[in-house]
Amino acid sequence: MAKRKPAEPTVQQLFDLTGRVVLITGAAGHLGSAMSRAFAEAGATLVIASREADKAAKFAASLPRRGRARHHGIALDHMSTDSCEAGFMEAVKRAGRVDVLVNNALHRDSVAHDLTTVSAEEFSKHQENNTGYFILSRIFRNHIVARNQKARTPVSGSVIMIGSMYGVVGSYPEAYKGVSVASPVQYHALKGGTVHMTRHLAVYWAKDNVRVNCLSPGPFPTDAIHPEMKRRLCTKSPMGRMGHNWELKGAALFFASDASGYVTGQNLLVDGGWTAW
Ligand SMILES: NC(=O)c1ccc[n+]([C@@H]2O[C@H](COP(=O)([O-])OP(=O)(O)OC[C@H]3O[C@@H](n4cnc5c(N)ncnc54)[C@H](OP(=O)(O)O)[C@@H]3O)[C@@H](O)[C@H]2O)c1
Repeated sequence: MAKRKPAEPTVQQLFDLTGRVVLITGAAGHLGSAMSRAFAEAGATLVIASREADKAAKFAASLPRRGRARHHGIALDHMSTDSCEAGFMEAVKRAGRVDVLVNNALHRDSVAHDLTTVSAEEFSKHQENNTGYFILSRIFRNHIVARNQKARTPVSGSVIMIGSMYGVVGSYPEAYKGVSVASPVQYHALKGGTVHMTRHLAVYWAKDNVRVNCLSPGPFPTDAIHPEMKRRLCTKSPMGRMGHNWELKGAALFFASDASGYVTGQNLLVDGGWTAW
């Protein structure tokens, strides 16, 4: 017998996260906080991860709740495999499951050093951010596979890697000269790896119902940025300005929801056109 075509969902249904559980690392930070609010506003239950449990719990309590959504805060250090495993288990214990994983955290201990000063150890250590993104993604993929072995109707999972425009293009030396160290070489190597790891995992895990995409922000500095640096960076943007953290909300929701159900292995740049010229 021919399979019946699934009914066409409305746009509201496609973007709705009601009943979904999103685990997001570095969630209380500058970009993580805006993305967390997006998921919560769309109806999801959030598992907020921070290296500090208290901070996670406090931020989780500040998020809007829709319907039966209940947010949780957990401790997770993505530079430690043990902590990734324990943190993921805690997320499942608290929220029952995880449907979306957002690898947003960034361990920054060497970013004050650029290509002129970074040590071999610092360079290597920075790449361990990708190790953390990978380990958490694999734990998540195994979780979806295990659920599907028991589920009557198949479940799907979405991994959102947070990359960077600096994973795709080099930086302008003159934008940094005299006001800051260059954008760190170890960061460019890291985020280029994040973008490409996305493609590899997406191909292998498509058959497991796990989509893997990368969301690459352009310049989204906090107010702490040096004013001259901001002025220079604005001249490099076709839109002539920096991004507001909430300008990532739409793209994050797209990747987390069924709106991107046929999208995997992609890198979406949200950069005001930075990489377009
Ligand atoms: N802002 C931008 O312009 C920009 C541009 C391109 C890409 N990005 C990317 O966007 C992501 C978020 O950046 P952001 O600007 O929002 O930075 P942020 O405010 O510093 O947030 C990053 C968060 O990562 C968490 N973190 C640090 N080390 C960790 C570790 N070992 N394990 C787990 N969590 C850890 C920290 O949270 P806790 O202290 O709570 O643990 C921190 O709040 C990063 O991946 C970054 O590369 C940012």
